[in-house]
Amino acid sequence: MIQEKMPLVERLFEYIKEDVTRYHMPGHKGGKGFSRQILDSLAQMDVTEVPELDNLHNPQGPIHKAQRLAASAFGSDHTWFLVNGSTVGIHAMILAACPPGSSLIVPRNCHKSVINALIMGDISPIYILPEYDEDRELVTQVSPQAVKDALEHNPHVRGVLLVSPNYYGMCANVQEIAEIVHRAGKVLLVDEAHGAHFPFSPKLPSSAGKLGADLWVHSAHKTLPSFTQTAYLHIKGHRVDKERISRILSINQTSSPSYIFMASLDWARYIMATRGHELLNNLIDNLDKIHDLVKEVGIGSVRKSIWPEVEALDPTRLVLDFKELGLTGYEAEKILREKERLQIEMSDHRYGIFICTVADTRSDLQKIVQTCQNLCSKYMKNKNIHFPMSISREIPKQMMSPRQAFYSKTQKIPLNESQGRIAANTIGAYPPGIPRYCPGELIEKNGIEELISIHKKGGILFGVEQEKYVDVVAE
Ligand SMILES: Cc1ncc(COP(=O)(O)O)c(C=O)c1O
Repeated sequence: MIQEKMPLVERLFEYIKEDVTRYHMPGHKGGKGFSRQILDSLAQMDVTEVPELDNLHNPQGPIHKAQRLAASAFGSDHTWFLVNGSTVGIHAMILAACPPGSSLIVPRNCHKSVINALIMGDISPIYILPEYDEDRELVTQVSPQAVKDALEHNPHVRGVLLVSPNYYGMCANVQEIAEIVHRAGKVLLVDEAHGAHFPFSPKLPSSAGKLGADLWVHSAHKTLPSFTQTAYLHIKGHRVDKERISRILSINQTSSPSYIFMASLDWARYIMATRGHELLNNLIDNLDKIHDLVKEVGIGSVRKSIWPEVEALDPTRLVLDFKELGLTGYEAEKILREKERLQIEMSDHRYGIFICTVADTRSDLQKIVQTCQNLCSKYMKNKNIHFPMSISREIPKQMMSPRQAFYSKTQKIPLNESQGRIAANTIGAYPPGIPRYCPGELIEKNGIEELISIHKKGGILFGVEQEKYVDVVAE
C-alpha cells in the first residue's frame, strides 16, 4: 500500500477546491459563520482540561458559565453542551426518563438514536404513526389525537417522544401534545435536532421548551454556526432527574471533549443571542423572495402548512418539489452538484432539501434561483414520469423487544424470503422514510411486497444490503 497517500484529506481538499455552494450541514457553511479570530485560532484552541479551562463532566468555570448563558438564551433551566451530537442527547433523555423494562411512546419516523437508546436501556417502544400525505408523498407529523389515543391504550408508559421539526421543517403541535402528556402524568421529550435556531426569531416556530417539553435536544451543527457533532440538551422543570442526565452524559461522552467543539457551542449561542434576530429575519425575507422566484420558473416548494397535524413550518428549510420537471429529487441533487456546483442536504424521490442558515450569503441565496432557472431550461420535460407511492398504515406485530432482537443471533437472508421472520434491524424505504419494520417485529408478506414495489418504482431501501439482504433473528 502506498503510505504517501491521504485519501480523506486529499478528497476534502478537492471538495474545498471545487468551491461548492453548501446547502448542507454544518450550519457554519465552510466557516462563513465564524469570526476570523476563531478561524485563525482553531489549532491553538484545541486544548485539554488545564485548570482554568474547566471540565465538561464537572463544569464549574467557563464551561459552567457558557452553559448558563446558553440556558438563558434557549429558555431552559439548564443546558448541557454535547460533543456527540443530538444522538447522545437523545440517548441521555430517554435513558434518564425511562428505567429498564419501562416503555415509551415514539413516532415511527424517529431517528435511529431513539431505537438505539431503547436497545441500550431495555425500553419497549409503543409506536405511533405520523400522518402521510399520499398526494404530496410527505410524512408530516403525529397528531395530538394519536398521542392521546396511545396514552389511553398504554397508561403504563413513562412518556412520549416527539420529533419536531422533521427533516422537512414540519412541526407538531407540541403545546397541545405537552398538555395531553402532562395531564396523563407523563414526560415529554422532544427531538428538536433541526430547530436549534427557533428561539431566536418570532418569525420561526416556537421552540419545544417554550411549548412545554421537559427535555429537548438541538443539533447546533445543523442550523447554527457551530462545528459538526456539537449539540445542546435542555431541561425545564423537575419531571426528570437532572443529576441522572449528567451521569449518563458522562458515561456516553468521551472523557476528552473537544474544546473546539465546546467553543463553537459558546460562539453559536453568542452570535444567535446577540444578532440572531436580525440575521434570521434577513434570511427569512430572502427565502420568501426565493420561494416566489423559484415558483415563477416552475418549481414547487413546501411553503405553507396545509395539514392540521403540522402546527408550523420552518421558513429556513427550503424543500423544493422537482416533480413538475420530470426529475426525481435524487436526479435533481446530482445535476445541481455536477452542473451547478451546489450541494443540497438531502433528496428523496421527489423533493430536495436545502438547509439555509444565517451563514448563507446573499450571493449563495441568489445561486438557488439561478440554478433553478438553469434546471428548468434544461430539464423541463413534457411527460410526468412520476409514480405515486402508497404505503400501509399498519404497525407490525412486536415479537420481541428491540434489545432482545439486538442480542439475538442474527442472519442475513433475501428480503423476498423473509416472510414470518423477525427483523433484527430497521428495514424500510424512501419514500416514506419511515421504517416498515423495526427490530423485533414480524415481517409479513404485504410488507415485503410493499418494499419491493417502492424499490421498483425508484424508491431507495434502507436496512437492505446490496438491495437484497435483510438482517433477521436466526431460527
Ligand atoms: C431528527 C433527527 N434527530 C437526531 C439526529 C441526530 O443528530 P446528530 O447528528 O446531531 O447526532 C438527526 C440527524 O440527522 C435527525 O435528523
